[in-house]
Amino acid sequence: MKILAIETSCDETAASVFLSPRNVLSNVVHSQKIHSLFGGVVPELASREHLERINAVVAEALDSAKTPLEQIDVVAYTDGPGLVGSLLVGRTVAHTIAWLAGKKTFAADHIEGHALSAALKWPGLCPPFLSLVVSGGHTDLIVVEAGGKFRYLGRTRDDAAGEAFDKVAKLLGLKYPGGPQIENLAARGNPAAINFPRPFMRSTWDFSFSGVKTAVLYYLRDIPSYADGKGLRSSRKIGPRIIADVCASFQAAVVETLVEKLIRAARFTGIKKISLGGGVALNKTLRKSVVSAAGVEGLKVFLPSNEHCADNAAMIALAAYHRLSHRRH
Ligand SMILES: Nc1ncnc2c1ncn2[C@@H]1O[C@H](COP(=O)(O)OP(=O)(O)OP(=O)(O)O)[C@@H](O)[C@H]1O
Ligand SMILES: [Mg+2]
Repeated sequence: MKILAIETSCDETAASVFLSPRNVLSNVVHSQKIHSLFGGVVPELASREHLERINAVVAEALDSAKTPLEQIDVVAYTDGPGLVGSLLVGRTVAHTIAWLAGKKTFAADHIEGHALSAALKWPGLCPPFLSLVVSGGHTDLIVVEAGGKFRYLGRTRDDAAGEAFDKVAKLLGLKYPGGPQIENLAARGNPAAINFPRPFMRSTWDFSFSGVKTAVLYYLRDIPSYADGKGLRSSRKIGPRIIADVCASFQAAVVETLVEKLIRAARFTGIKKISLGGGVALNKTLRKSVVSAAGVEGLKVFLPSNEHCADNAAMIALAAYHRLSHRRH
């Protein structure tokens, strides 16, 4: 089954031609840059840029896969969750292509794509496994069960992990997306310099990172050179040492919380295979911490390759393929 998949849930316009997890024929991603001017994704601008780019991205995916449209069996698209206007562009294009070429469509779930994405690097990764999706809008702990089912253990209660990275970056005057910049600056700082709270919330598998973000805000607010007395805040005067320590300490609080809950969930469910998905899974400190904690517990770790962490259409094709293969059995 050859799948053409389209992803437009947020600020990436992406398309992929996919045969199987072992055989992804193309994976084209256009990341929208305009949002860095505004400190976050502006939904209206995102939809407009999807509209401008989608045809070229789909054509490139088909060309580099050397696959004419006639050879496609299913046109899959991200049906949600995501920004309504952005989703509408991908959905409309997928339905139009399918209608013109006489193909079937499949509405795929974006988070199932993130949860499965490690299987694009590790095609032998079979359910059951535990997947921690850490993206811009979600921090979800999901059991990928045999039989094509997804069981959510825990979800985001407020700020998702990536959102917390982005908001802390904004407090520090860094551009969107904040995650990669915080990671870079953290490499020069001391993770033990500031003891930001670890929101373990041991009575639930849910996650909450808004408190850590607020703790960073209060820490900065108490530095006299950060606020100018008129309500204006600037990180420019607080110096690179403090900025690096804030980044390292904040990152340590988030990573420790994620890893602790993931390992505890593996113990609780008895599942021996764990994986990560989503943009925050690019974070090297998180990847290293998961690998080392899993080693101690005797768990097998399956990390997605970098190109499959943030939004991409290969993972959407995989989500469709996963559901469709189970439907046939
Ligand atoms: N190296 C990194 N360290 C930490 N966070 C990172 C890193 N690289 C990217 N991120 C974060 O990943 C997020 C983007 O990931 P992704 O594209 O998966 O999210 P999204 O698609 O916007 O959200 P969702 O999938 O929940 O709808 C951003 O919040 C970004 O700051
Ligand atoms: Mg995403």
